[in-house]
Amino acid sequence: MRFFIDTANLDQIKEAHALGILDGVTTNPSLMAKEGIKGHDAIMQHYVDICNIVDGPVSAEVISTDFEGMVAEGKKLAALHENIVVKIPMIKDGIKAIKWFSDNSISTNCTLVFSAGQAILAAKAGATMVSPFIGRIDDSNWDGVELIQQIVNIYNAQGYMTEVLAASIRTPLHIVKCAEAGADIVTCPLSSITGLLKHPLTDLGLAQFLKDAQSL
Ligand code: E4P
Repeated sequence: MRFFIDTANLDQIKEAHALGILDGVTTNPSLMAKEGIKGHDAIMQHYVDICNIVDGPVSAEVISTDFEGMVAEGKKLAALHENIVVKIPMIKDGIKAIKWFSDNSISTNCTLVFSAGQAILAAKAGATMVSPFIGRIDDSNWDGVELIQQIVNIYNAQGYMTEVLAASIRTPLHIVKCAEAGADIVTCPLSSITGLLKHPLTDLGLAQFLKDAQSL
């Protein structure tokens, strides 16, 4: 399972990259706004800055909601860097745009996926990755990890090549459960990645080892 970081914050991307386990980055307009990035040129430069840190897929989301707009925007994003993946919302014109990008060998990430049916459509259109939002599903009293399992099963049964990118991760346990369910990729906040490190018995054990080492 590959690890992406879900942020537009360059310091956090550098910190995750320094761990040596980072495979890619996902962003969205909310994450870009959180970093205070304003204006077309600044947004484009920010995507390039991210690509210059991580040698892996970097999802950049289109703002348009019509087919022509998504294709025009996605072409510009894809031209920024070879690692850019055009992020397209799960709407009717989005499916048409994913098919267009697939036919033109441009990678896509179908975002805002909340059901197995949507994931099937994204795969049929040729999406490179599909992003089910498991945290938001949990927030609505459904089981996000169950959806990941269902999509993995369907893709395996049907031989779809689209990768399952579990998104809207909120906790380290989400990462573990997605690994169990067979997700290809998880995209997580830095806190969930570093949360995997933590166990009180590790801290206690290390403290004892260091204490005993003093008597050697
Ligand atoms: C990533 O591709 C998604 O945009 C992101 O994981 C959404 O996460 P959120 O539900 O925490 O906003």
